Amino acid sequence: MSTNAAKNLFIYGSLLCFVVLVILTVDTMGKLDKRAPEITEQVNAGKKVWHKYDCIGCHTILGNGSYFAPDLTKAVERKPKEYLKKFIMDPRTIKPNSAMPKLGLSEKEADNLIAFLDWMDKVDTNGWPPKPILAGAISGKTASTGQMLFQKNDCSACHQINGIGGTAGPDLTHIGNVRPDVEWHIRHLKDPDTVVPDSAMPSFHHLSDEDLRQIGEYLITLK
Ligand code: HEC
Ligand code: HEC
Repeated sequence: MSTNAAKNLFIYGSLLCFVVLVILTVDTMGKLDKRAPEITEQVNAGKKVWHKYDCIGCHTILGNGSYFAPDLTKAVERKPKEYLKKFIMDPRTIKPNSAMPKLGLSEKEADNLIAFLDWMDKVDTNGWPPKPILAGAISGKTASTGQMLFQKNDCSACHQINGIGGTAGPDLTHIGNVRPDVEWHIRHLKDPDTVVPDSAMPSFHHLSDEDLRQIGEYLITLK
């Protein structure tokens, strides 16, 4: 290659790379805007409440914060807003032995905070945080139908089995010892209130009787 050709290769090569870089940057900036909905005044007020009560001292949001309590980036996707509001204002009305203290938020502060969490929920995080590695997957055995239904219906968003899953509901690792009756589980899944007064667990009455039975059969094997 002559010196001239090498020079041209360097100049046009650099130029090409620079143009590609500019195009990619513009493309990314354009997409970033669309990844989060508009920040309203209430969302802003909610973020201030978030800081005022130091929620981040126990929780994470977008991965930032402390690991004492569950991540709240997608809290609104997992729980009804009414439930969250009640919980945030006084956790022990929902979970009698909740590890979260009553922080003394006013009703207005709670509403603002829910608006903030709602905004956070709509931010496109590219699938983050990952769903809990589903509880059954670690047993090493082939999953039974009931175990697959447990995963499919996201029970592990609220329940732990062998240390994996959410903490909003009780740990189910040994539920088969405590509740060995399939019929009890079917009734509980269909309409939790009939067997656990004031239960905070959502009803799964939309599942077929056969599916509920399969889940029950799986639960009583957890010993
Ligand atoms: C001292 C630590 C602590 C602080 C501070 C704290 N939390 Fe919690 N929070 C917890 C723990 C622990 C849980 C897990 C469930 C339980 O034990 O009740 C929880 C659970 C929750 C849940 C329920 C999650 C679910 O999936 O059911 C929400 C919502 C929540 N916290 C919001 C907040 C908000 C909002 C703040 C700030 C106003 C806050 N928390 C401050 C410890 C804390
Ligand atoms: C939104 C959170 C949430 C989801 C999702 C959820 N649960 Fe629950 N679950 C709870 C709470 C809170 C309780 C405690 C109140 C009660 O017993 O009804 C509970 C209780 C239970 C209990 C009784 C534990 C005991 O010792 O009495 C079982 C069994 C159970 N859940 C199974 C399931 C199964 C199976 C699924 C999925 C089909 C599921 N849960 C989905 C929140 C949840």
